[in-house]
Amino acid sequence: MLLGIDVGTGGTRAVLIDRAGTVVASHSTEHAPIHSEHIGWAEQHPDDWWRAVQAAISGAIAASGQPGSAIEAVGLTGQMHGCVMLDASGSVIRPALIWCDQRTQPQCDWLTETIGYARLIELTANPALPNFTLTKLLWVREHDPESFAKIAHVLCPKDYIRYKLTGEFAMDMQEASGTLLLDVANRRWSEEVAGISGIPMSWLPPLFEGPEICARISNDGASVTGLVVGTPVAAGAGDQGAGAVGMGILKPGSVSATIGTSGVVFASTDKPTMDRLGRLHTFCHAAPGLWHVMGVTNGAGLSLRYFRDTFAATASYDELSAEAALVSPGSDGLFWTPYLFGERTPHLDATARAAFVGITASTTRAHFVRAVLEGVAFSLKDTFTLFSELGIPVTAIRLGGGGARGPLWRQIQADVYGHPVDLLEAEEGGAFGAALLAGTGIGAWPSVEAACEATIRIAQTIQPKSAEAMQAAYAEYIKIYPALKYIGRA
Ligand code: XUL
Repeated sequence: MLLGIDVGTGGTRAVLIDRAGTVVASHSTEHAPIHSEHIGWAEQHPDDWWRAVQAAISGAIAASGQPGSAIEAVGLTGQMHGCVMLDASGSVIRPALIWCDQRTQPQCDWLTETIGYARLIELTANPALPNFTLTKLLWVREHDPESFAKIAHVLCPKDYIRYKLTGEFAMDMQEASGTLLLDVANRRWSEEVAGISGIPMSWLPPLFEGPEICARISNDGASVTGLVVGTPVAAGAGDQGAGAVGMGILKPGSVSATIGTSGVVFASTDKPTMDRLGRLHTFCHAAPGLWHVMGVTNGAGLSLRYFRDTFAATASYDELSAEAALVSPGSDGLFWTPYLFGERTPHLDATARAAFVGITASTTRAHFVRAVLEGVAFSLKDTFTLFSELGIPVTAIRLGGGGARGPLWRQIQADVYGHPVDLLEAEEGGAFGAALLAGTGIGAWPSVEAACEATIRIAQTIQPKSAEAMQAAYAEYIKIYPALKYIGRA
C-alpha cells in the first residue's frame, strides 16, 4: 500500500491506496480553527497539524486492517505557502502565518520596489503577493524581531510534518515555487532574491523533485503513527501540484477546474510560461521536467457556504441546488462577484469586495443561489480567458472538488467554460496524488505519467447545453469589477 497525507487548512486526511489506485482506507481529522487576531490575519500552530497527522495516519492504518509494515512509501502534500519557523533545535518559534493571511501587502510593496516588478517575475516567475511565504518572513522581521532572531529553518506546512516524521529538512520544487524564493525556470533557490531580502540560504531546506525519496521514517515518527522505521518518504508537492497529479493533469492541453474553498484552474506546461502581469501563478509541476500555471479564485466554494450560512442556514446544499436548477441560465440578470477574500486571478486585489448586482422585486432565493454558482464559474472562466491570451492550450477539462459533486454546478461549469468537462471515477484530491508520487519514487511506476495512466479513469463527460447564454452573461459579469472597484474604499 501507498500512503498519501494531505495537511489541509481545515483538517488532515490520510489515504491508503493500492497499486491499482483503489482506495483501501482513509481517515480525516480536523484542525483547530484558524486564529485571526485582526481582519485579514490567519495563523495556525504547526503542532496542531502534527497532532492531526498522527491521528489521521493511525486511523487510516487501523481502518485498512493491515499492519504499518504493509505501507511501502509515504507521500506528503498540504496547504501551500504557510511560513513555519524553527529554531536551531528544531522547535517551532511562533504560530505559522498561513496561505490566506493577507497582512503582508507593505512587504509585497517593499519587495516590488526593491527588486523591481519585471525583475522579480524574471527571477521567480511570479509577483510579490501576500500569500507567498517570503512576504510572511519579512513581516515577522519587522513586527516580531525577537522571533525572527531565533530562526534557523523555514519550512512549509507539509515539510514541517516531514521533519516530525523523519527528522529531515526537505522541500519539493512545486511547493518551493510558492515561497517567492525559487528560481522557478531553473528549479533552484534564487540566491539573488534571498540575498536582497536578507534571508540566509542556510534557512532554506534542500530541494527535490516530487517523486524523489528524500527521507525515511524515524524512530520518533514511527512510535507515534504506527508507521515502520525506515519507510521511504517522497518529496511530494503542495496541494495544487499533488491534486493535479491525482487528477492526471500532466500533458500540456489538459486542464483541471477545482472548486474547493478556493477555486483553481490548473494547466500543465512543458516550459515555464510567465504572465508578465503576474495574474497567473507559474510554478514547477510535481512531475520532473514540467511546469504549471494556475489562476486562483479565493472565495469559490466559500461563496456558497457563506450564502447558506448567512441567508439559508436551515437548507442543505442539495435543497439549494434543486431550487436553483429551476432558474434559467444567466439567473435572469442577477450576478455574484465572489470576492469575499479579495481576489487573486485576474485582479490581484486583496481589497476587492463581493457583490450581488441586478436584484429586482422578482428575485427569489433560488436566483441568488444560481447566481452564486454562476459567479464562481465566471471567476474561474477569467483564468481560461488569460490562458487563451497567453496561448496556453486547453484540449480537455477535468472537474474536481466539491464543485464537481452536484449535477447543477457541473453543468454550469461546462456551459460557462463553453467546453465539455470530464468527471473522474474517483476524485480523492491531493492525498491520492501524493500517494502516486510516493509510488513513483519507489519504482511502482516508471514515471508520474505512468502512475496516472494506471490509476485514473474518466467516469463521464458533460457537454455544454447553454454555452451561448452563458457567454453573453459572462460578457456582462466582467463589467462589474471595474464599476465597483472604488466603492466603499478609503
Ligand atoms: C495555492 C493556495 C491554496 C492553498 C490552500 O496557491 O493558496 O491552494 O494551498 O489550499
